[in-house]
Amino acid sequence: MTAIGFTVNGKAVSVGKPLRRLVHALREDLGLTGTKVGCDAGDCGACTVLLDGAQVCACMVPVGQAAGRAVTTVEGLAANGELSALQRAFHAHGAAQCGICTPGMLMAASDLLRQNAKPSMAQILDTMGGVLCRCTGYQNIVAAVADVAGLNGHAKIETPPAGRAVGARIARLDGIPKLDGTELYGDDSAPEDALWLRAVRSPHWSATFTIGDLAPLHKKWPGLVKVLTAKDVTGNNGFGIYPHVKDQPVLAPGEIKFRGEAVYALVGDYASVYGIRDEDVPIAWTPRPHVHGLDAALAPGAPQIHKDKPGNVMARGRVAKGDVDAALASSHVTAEFACETGFVEHAYIEPEAGWARRVGDRLEIHVTTQTPYMDRDETAQCLGLAPDQIRLVPSACGGGFGGKLDMSVQPLIGLAAWLLDKPVRCVYTRIESMASSTKRHPARITATAGATRDGKLTAYKFHGDFNTGAYVSWGLTVTDRVPVHATGPYHVPAAQCTSLGAFTNEPIAGAFRGFGVPQASFAHEALMDALAAKTGIDPLEFRHINALRVGQATATGHVLEASAPLAACLEALRPHWKKARADAEAFNKTANGIKRRGAGVACMWYGCGNTSMANPSTIHMGVARDGTVTLYSGAVDMGQGPNTTLVQVAADGLGIDVSKVRLVAGDTDLTADAGKSSASRQAYVSGNAAMRAGQALRKEILRRANVGENARIAFGPTIAVRDGDAVRTIDLAGLPPVRQGDVLVGEGTFDPPTTKLDANGQGKPYGTYAFAAQTAEVEVDVELGTVKVLRIVAAHDVGRALNPQQVEGQVHGGVAQGLGLALMEEYIPGRTENLHDYLIPTFGDMPPIEVILVEDPEPTGPYGAKGVGEPALIPTAPAIFGAIEHATGVRPTRAPATPDRLRAALLAAKRT
Ligand code: FES
Ligand code: FES
Repeated sequence: MTAIGFTVNGKAVSVGKPLRRLVHALREDLGLTGTKVGCDAGDCGACTVLLDGAQVCACMVPVGQAAGRAVTTVEGLAANGELSALQRAFHAHGAAQCGICTPGMLMAASDLLRQNAKPSMAQILDTMGGVLCRCTGYQNIVAAVADVAGLNGHAKIETPPAGRAVGARIARLDGIPKLDGTELYGDDSAPEDALWLRAVRSPHWSATFTIGDLAPLHKKWPGLVKVLTAKDVTGNNGFGIYPHVKDQPVLAPGEIKFRGEAVYALVGDYASVYGIRDEDVPIAWTPRPHVHGLDAALAPGAPQIHKDKPGNVMARGRVAKGDVDAALASSHVTAEFACETGFVEHAYIEPEAGWARRVGDRLEIHVTTQTPYMDRDETAQCLGLAPDQIRLVPSACGGGFGGKLDMSVQPLIGLAAWLLDKPVRCVYTRIESMASSTKRHPARITATAGATRDGKLTAYKFHGDFNTGAYVSWGLTVTDRVPVHATGPYHVPAAQCTSLGAFTNEPIAGAFRGFGVPQASFAHEALMDALAAKTGIDPLEFRHINALRVGQATATGHVLEASAPLAACLEALRPHWKKARADAEAFNKTANGIKRRGAGVACMWYGCGNTSMANPSTIHMGVARDGTVTLYSGAVDMGQGPNTTLVQVAADGLGIDVSKVRLVAGDTDLTADAGKSSASRQAYVSGNAAMRAGQALRKEILRRANVGENARIAFGPTIAVRDGDAVRTIDLAGLPPVRQGDVLVGEGTFDPPTTKLDANGQGKPYGTYAFAAQTAEVEVDVELGTVKVLRIVAAHDVGRALNPQQVEGQVHGGVAQGLGLALMEEYIPGRTENLHDYLIPTFGDMPPIEVILVEDPEPTGPYGAKGVGEPALIPTAPAIFGAIEHATGVRPTRAPATPDRLRAALLAAKRT
């Protein structure tokens, strides 16, 4: 076969397979892993490269089409070791979070700017529109491109002096590899000789099965090295999040509980593993009746999915304070609300991927993950190994949002590499990722609230049923967390909030940015609007009256001791709110009645860290003999920024310039357990650990130098400590190594101060809470049922913004996901398993977002900081629903409010 010749980044190359798709030739044959694969189907744009200068999806272009032409990839953007102006603008604006979309974004923008150096904003949105980003809400990407186009100003990167990093807009310390194509995700670093692994999954919702004789398959496919089945699992064939729940098998042991469950795994060369069709493997299925939806799961006589869970009830949660029925009965006004939400897919652009190898009697697993230590321990128990026999090395993580808190490829590649003593790699296809990974819990909620005629809340009663799918995953966290948060961030004298998680034969519902709290927020915000209307009080002012304040008790009886600035968030929004309401009402007076505008407001609160349980982080910092200072952080950065912010707080704790700190992140052999990147805990919990590590190291140095607390430290092979006019030195060459070659070490640990909740859910479940309020302005086409979000203003209490640019980026991304939750995102098992049918917000869907940071330092936070990752998403959808109600008089009761649903609701209410 004649090789196809073309150039890549100016260098002549040839590839021998004309039908091979260009993205795979670039990545696998030419080693250019800067170009990413998000879908392999032309839907996400992650693979965008330039072909003779014009953007194309490299996953849709056969190599033959590149013959004689010039391909440019992200690796070709920098010249002479210098980033291009576009790359520099991305860096300065914080346009890359997880960075998995960034190469595609850069290439699409390069195409645009090549055609037109001065594009309009509309042209930017249009030309970039084929590339999806799940992290940024597109705001800073647009700003970066507009910067190069001269449409807006440059972003300022701050370079603060030693000890002043906290609060500074420092550009991502790990940002450059995301821009030049050198960042390694998932299986990007897999050895060339690695075997491939592909899981084959159930086509049925519930079934038993037997696997037949595999010998003919091996004979037909000599490149097939092993077919792994449940019998090959060397330890416990079950894993899970909680110590007492290991209900999800690595490979199904003769029965499956949902469509997409892993049944067996093919291991071998690429041609065999991907050449074998699922139907080629001898397997005899016996389908069983299956259970879909909460009604079916909880119906009397429903098939029982887990033997030890009668009625398909996974767990219940409860918070009760006061006599809620009496309080409701004596309220001057009451309101009721019921709503439903569907499955929501994380849709991180990077599918699950990783590789593993055996090293003597140890196993090394490189994987995209949010939780390296839990992966290590869970894989170990599945393989029957001791935890320290496994080294878990997180790759760069191309988005997680909770979906990479559960294991995916880890036990499979680990088992294969362990048994075969060969490196093994695996990357999920987009369809496989969506079919098998966890989702946001569908919910069915009813709630009632009461108030006095002057607008003071008296009582709140709530019940939520949550569909947890086939296995527990994070379901217990949802049933625990929801009742605690169900009242919303309001002071309610009497509350009764309950939850129930139910098993179904549907995708596993797990952790997704908010653990059920976003679903509950639909109810409390609808009720605030309803009670405001009944009492004749403005919706924002009604919330201001009832906002939880310092000294008040939450529904769990936790008296807030400090930093509860929801009222300040609402005050910051007030001028925007008044204008938005007035603008909408003025528009509606003059418009034709088909397009109607409205403005809504919504609030949220969120406990930072795990609910009523220990969730410590430990981080250490060391100085090597040559004076190099290293922060060893086990906190995974999936785009939310701890690789920068933890360095900032540790550097300030030590008193050193951030640029002088080297970071070792995530590797379980090199870092202590900093817990999971979840529950908005890393800034608060690991931030404290990093700060304390820096402070401990500083204390040790000052002790050795025998100087006062305000001394300045200069690092080198000899540390110089200046205290006033006196300079003391510490010669590092003479010190013995303490840990990983470092001769001076400081360690910090933090576990949030919480208490257990009693049977009525009373206690102190979190060390602190973040608060926020957002306004949304929308335009509804009442004939089509479509909603265009025009603007979001988001006021967020972050305690102290460790890095305002990164905090703003989190809010942008959260708002985008909240918009998706409100209007378009619904995962329908078996039907929307790709990024073509499952819609996430694109450039054109996103309105301008104005972020207002409310800083009211949290005394237990590192330099006052709290988390913001999940809080950013929660108020957006209810604010949009409030705006729709303001515009039309109809409040959606089913999320997402797709055009067909909204149109039907408008028709039913005779509002069209
Ligand atoms: S990987 Fe090519 S468009 Fe998604
Ligand atoms: S930065 Fe765009 S997908 Fe993560």
